[in-house]
Amino acid sequence: MKKLHAQKYNEAQYISDSNHHQMRDTDRSFTIGGLRAEDLVKEFGTPLFVYDAGKISAQYNRLHTALPEGSVIKYAVKALTGISVLRFIHSLGAGADVVSIQELKIALHAGFAPSQIMFTPNNVDFSEIQEAVSLGAEVTVDNLSSLEKFGIAFGGSHPVAIRLNPHIMAGGNLKISTGHSHSKFGISIQQQQQILAVVKKYGIDVSGLHIHTGSEITDIQVFIRVAEILLEIATYFPTLRFVDFGGGFKVAYKPGDKTTDIEALGKMLGETVDNFNKKTGKKLEIRVEPGKFLVSEAGYLITTTTVVKETPAVTFIGVNSGLNHLIRPMMYDAWHEIENISNPDGPLKQYTIAGNICETDNFGTDRMLNEVREGDLIVIRNAGAYGYTM
Ligand code: LLP
Repeated sequence: MKKLHAQKYNEAQYISDSNHHQMRDTDRSFTIGGLRAEDLVKEFGTPLFVYDAGKISAQYNRLHTALPEGSVIKYAVKALTGISVLRFIHSLGAGADVVSIQELKIALHAGFAPSQIMFTPNNVDFSEIQEAVSLGAEVTVDNLSSLEKFGIAFGGSHPVAIRLNPHIMAGGNLKISTGHSHSKFGISIQQQQQILAVVKKYGIDVSGLHIHTGSEITDIQVFIRVAEILLEIATYFPTLRFVDFGGGFKVAYKPGDKTTDIEALGKMLGETVDNFNKKTGKKLEIRVEPGKFLVSEAGYLITTTTVVKETPAVTFIGVNSGLNHLIRPMMYDAWHEIENISNPDGPLKQYTIAGNICETDNFGTDRMLNEVREGDLIVIRNAGAYGYTM
């Protein structure tokens, strides 16, 4: 186990480097990567984020195997920026996709080479794009104004990728759908002529085309449509080196959840881009930018029950955490599995699990948990992606 960093307020994050997946061992203790959660809590207190490196590498290897050889995986750093997690993902061979100068700097600090880092911001001041260029990162622009400024500043001296908006509605909910016509992300595919005019005017070296349609996309037809769009437009950009399909691969948040068929997706992308390359004589590289797929299931938020409160309508479990640690249930009505690990044999009872912030920060409503007593440890699963960082 490596210590990530102990933070004030008794919050800490730890990463286990065992290859064991979470399981209960014979003494019924809840373990993460082979480590007993109770031991971690004794040492570090709660609330505590724990990340299982074995799960991250299993996910990485699965994706790496599914994609055609030569494809590039850029980890979407926004999902989880813990420095040890970044170092670990770097050691697996991934690059990094960043959306702010701060994320770029932390990726550099974690050991990613500038050339492995893709800066894909939205609505940042152009000075940040200039800073990213000066730090040696690759850059993607997602609006015509920035493309024009890029042309004025750099002409064809530094490559730039272009993020497109494909006019496709996809993703787990509207807030995480980024490819539809009313989304702020990307340059509309209907503005292709304007893009080409700016590129021609300044002799811009367009290295890649990028589309991230949304998060939690289970239907691989969406990616097939995106591939068709990207490759159709690719024919207009002779300088192109890669096509980037973004992230958005869905993992299970609850038993029976539909997930993205990564193997089918990898096969389809491989065949489609390969056909295109054969037909055109180009050698376009495939890129993807997974966040959730790599880190969601690896993360656990361990909390302590502070209050059990029975009302005439509801029995609440109050825990020493809240939306400040995990906002997804409140922001997206996201489902996270919740378990009482201190009383695994207790009778099942119905509870609403709530945080300690003065907002209705319920982590889960009307859930069946083994009977909860004050002091019991409550674990929230899938806390890896967009937990700590949000
Ligand atoms: N690439 C780009 C350009 C993105 O904007 C995103 C996520 C990703 C890759 C990675 O997507 P993923 O593989 O993680 O789905 N906070 C929300 C998710 C927002 C995703 C934003 N963009 C949540 O907790 O569900």
